[in-house]
Amino acid sequence: MPGRVTPLEMAPADFRRVGHELVDRIADFLGTLRERPLTSGETPTDIRNLLGRGPLPATGTAPAALLAETATLLFDHSLFNGHPRFMGYITSSAAPLGALADLLAASVNPNVGGWELSPMASEIEAQTVRWVAELVGYPADGGGLLVSGGNGANFVCFLAGRRAMLGESARTAGLPQGRGALRVYTSGAAHTWIQKACDLFGLGTDAIRWIPTDDAQRMRADLLRAQIREDLACGDRPIMVVGTAGSVSTGAVDPIRELAEICREHQLWLHVDGAYGAPAAVLPGVPDDLHALALADSLAVDPHKWLYAPIEAGCALVREPRLLREAFSYTPAYYRFDTEGEEPPINYYELGPQNSRGFRALKVWLGLRQAGREGYVRMIGDDCRLAEALYGQVAAHPELEAATLGLSIATFRYVPADLRGVASAEPYLNALNEALLARLKLGGELFVTNAVLDGRFLLRACIVNFRTTDADVAMIPEIVATAGRLVDAELRPGDGRPERSEGLPHPRSSSARQDPSPPRSLPSSAAKGPGSG
Ligand SMILES: Cc1ncc(COP(=O)(O)O)c(C=O)c1O
Repeated sequence: MPGRVTPLEMAPADFRRVGHELVDRIADFLGTLRERPLTSGETPTDIRNLLGRGPLPATGTAPAALLAETATLLFDHSLFNGHPRFMGYITSSAAPLGALADLLAASVNPNVGGWELSPMASEIEAQTVRWVAELVGYPADGGGLLVSGGNGANFVCFLAGRRAMLGESARTAGLPQGRGALRVYTSGAAHTWIQKACDLFGLGTDAIRWIPTDDAQRMRADLLRAQIREDLACGDRPIMVVGTAGSVSTGAVDPIRELAEICREHQLWLHVDGAYGAPAAVLPGVPDDLHALALADSLAVDPHKWLYAPIEAGCALVREPRLLREAFSYTPAYYRFDTEGEEPPINYYELGPQNSRGFRALKVWLGLRQAGREGYVRMIGDDCRLAEALYGQVAAHPELEAATLGLSIATFRYVPADLRGVASAEPYLNALNEALLARLKLGGELFVTNAVLDGRFLLRACIVNFRTTDADVAMIPEIVATAGRLVDAELRPGDGRPERSEGLPHPRSSSARQDPSPPRSLPSSAAKGPGSG
């Protein structure tokens, strides 16, 4: 019986031809990534003009022409986080097999909200969750699911903790009123998701107690303890401590063991944000607290960061599987999914905020099988080794100043030779490095982002990139110094550079300090050098 003729259906022969053409172009794209400029550096207006500003098309276009045009738009006008010298934020180069996984996932299109709608996909997700837990040293018999990313994973864990600490009434009657403020504790180095979570989930950001950090940007456990006691004494309700295993700015790992001890003492929920750093738990030489993740009641891990899965893929892990169902499950009459049997099916819509869910797990599962634990130990180990090499090369460069090294993140800044050790130059150095960062981002050779530490604006390279080599790292100090000199010359053009009037010595003046050692303004932690993270 002939099928319906519709504009979206494709005959297998057409799909094959168009698909092969696309795969060929993607293969060429992947093969030329290293030679391409990292970013097109275009403006929103440039891109909108390219895309056209026309209305919704009235009639359709043939798929081959559409895909060819769209592939060109993306290959020629994008920023490539798969480029070997992309080291910004914490976004990994994506495993090519992951791209094929998304093609396969979209082709079968299972709805991983209900088991009966996705038998194999649901089981692959369950296995992926167990394997991610195993890889990072978290109990594999806990609960968990794949979500949109680090924010999503932390939100799910936060909500599981909120339900566990406040009981069912938090879901029915809402958050308790008038019995002392609910308190959540985290460090100043925590990622901003915690603000969104407290805002979106009804606690309000005032509930957050920002605990100071030590020289290594780790939460001060002694101050946490004191704050909890103080809050209890004035009738507040501490419910959760949020530790970070690999902070976004410097890769710092909080004292997880001490936090777990404090949470046990006060019966609090311990959540660990391991979106970035948890996979580094596979390495022996990392901070020992990364080997204590199993002490957490919940843990967030981001496969689209250091497991090199294409965006988007986050993973929420909770020690007690039932706590996810208690936090998220509703079973309306129109959802009659089977839940019985010796090995009952998992219906993931009951374990998280989504109802219909895509098959995110496939790209993660295939990556884990393609590389195996050994492969991840090697890739993650190499990323850390390369960051350490970068830190060393930056520290040795006369115009660069190394700041911190933690996991695979190195921070540093450009300091013109005549301003090294000049305390009054700090405001100028911040402005210079901020302008330098903007220049580097558009330059197309290197993509780094920033960190702000003790008031200093720093450049920050985070290596979660299996394409980065020693040669790439070796290029970075000179790429940065060359751009730094240019920007400095523009900001301090020849004689009469404006900053001079603010008491900065003239470069050629005898009072300019020539002291090569790291300037005093650096906090003691940086002085410790590699591994201080
Ligand atoms: C420590 C940490 N937590 C959470 C997030 C948020 O992750 P995502 O961007 O995947 O939502 C990030 C992102 O960089 C992060 O570094």
